Amino acid sequence: METIRITGGHALKGEVVISGAKNAALPIMAATLLTEEPCRLQNIPDLSDIRCMADILRHLGATVVQTEPNTLTITAKGLETPDAPYELVRKMRAAICLMGPLIGRLRRAKVPLPGGCIIGPRPIDLHLKGFSKLGCDIRIEKGNVYIEASHLQGERIFLGGRHGSTVTGTANILMAAVLTPGITCIESAACEPEIQDLCRMLSSMGAHIDGIGTHTLTIEGVDRLDGCTHCVIPDRIEAGTYLIAAAITAGEVTLHGAQQRHLGAIIDKLEQATLPLTILDHETIQIHPRGNPLHPLDLIMLPYPGFPTDLQAQICALMATTPGLSIITDRIYPNRYMHIPELQRMGADIAIEGSSFIIAGGTPFSGTPVMASDLRASAALILAGLVAKGDTLIQQIHHLDRGYEKFEQKLRGVGALIERMPASPSLS
Ligand code: EPZ
Repeated sequence: METIRITGGHALKGEVVISGAKNAALPIMAATLLTEEPCRLQNIPDLSDIRCMADILRHLGATVVQTEPNTLTITAKGLETPDAPYELVRKMRAAICLMGPLIGRLRRAKVPLPGGCIIGPRPIDLHLKGFSKLGCDIRIEKGNVYIEASHLQGERIFLGGRHGSTVTGTANILMAAVLTPGITCIESAACEPEIQDLCRMLSSMGAHIDGIGTHTLTIEGVDRLDGCTHCVIPDRIEAGTYLIAAAITAGEVTLHGAQQRHLGAIIDKLEQATLPLTILDHETIQIHPRGNPLHPLDLIMLPYPGFPTDLQAQICALMATTPGLSIITDRIYPNRYMHIPELQRMGADIAIEGSSFIIAGGTPFSGTPVMASDLRASAALILAGLVAKGDTLIQQIHHLDRGYEKFEQKLRGVGALIERMPASPSLS
């Protein structure tokens, strides 16, 4: 197993370019199944989840060719089987968003039920409710979801759940609805920038979608869709992670390609914590060095445009180094706390109270071996390592490769002492 070693204590300084958004790219790749024609996708980040999705699409009969760096041309003319293979799907939960395009194009799908997830239960009841409303017959047998859709018809579908709207659920129903006769109205739809990006891609293929960016999407089904060229939006979670990396090291970093309009809640909270930053233009943010400690925060994770759960672990690391009492609450994923015991091992003073973390911030971090449990936990431990005294060794680092393009290279480019090693050595 590869390990990352970070030698802490160096303020970051320099420039970082933000990559394409993983969580936009994955459903957009799935959406290419909706047409026989080639789709040229630009700004696709080079990540293990993306390679996994490409393998699944190839298994289903599509050709996936990297035409230039970060550009994939996907042609699903040969789409034949509705059967997504367990061996590939089990590696990546986002494969669930293949259901919508398979139903739209082939009127049937067989997709393995996603298994357990380290960040807690991740049901798909809302996805299935939506498909059922569109007229699909659904059965679950031996761990697979079988969907038959002989009489699809547009419908009014309320997709809100106990924790608000569902991002992948909205993507799934949307992708089925664009090729479903009649009008489908998705109420309580997710309006995350990644969903908006998918809507824009589908529209450029000829889909009729109204209400993009709102909680009500109205889709008028069409008979067929064309190919397209689409450039994926920058990754707001990656941008937020680098904002926090600059903040935690009291560094001076300029982010390029960070879409300010997608980062409203993140910028607002960091400003509330007194992080000095300047928005240079709509996609350039400059974080200035600071002499004083930040202020603690009382922060709750919410669906967009609120503060995203995918930055919860990283902001916990920041607040653990910030003097004063912070409260971070995540009801979207109340079990997303595996990073907390690892941060505690590094010196953080954090108590878990239900879905809240009570952080008595300002305790010094010291380097030690820690275990990354998921993608965002890996990022949080790296951020903690940047300010820890001595060396931090992070194991199970393959999680990081799922969602951060060239993380170590980018951090090295702004002065971090970080290296990847093939096996886990002991600390000297
Ligand atoms: C997406 O997951 C992201 N994944 C996640 O990114 C992100 O954490 C999450 O949205 C929330 O923003 C992708 O886009 C590929 P949801 P998704 O359905 O769509 C409940 C990362 O680190 N729910 O919006 O699976 C659910 O339990 C990750 O990049 C139901 O109850 O999340 C949760 O509490 C991991 N029933 C809430 O809704 C359902 O049928 C939101 O989940 C579906 C969801």
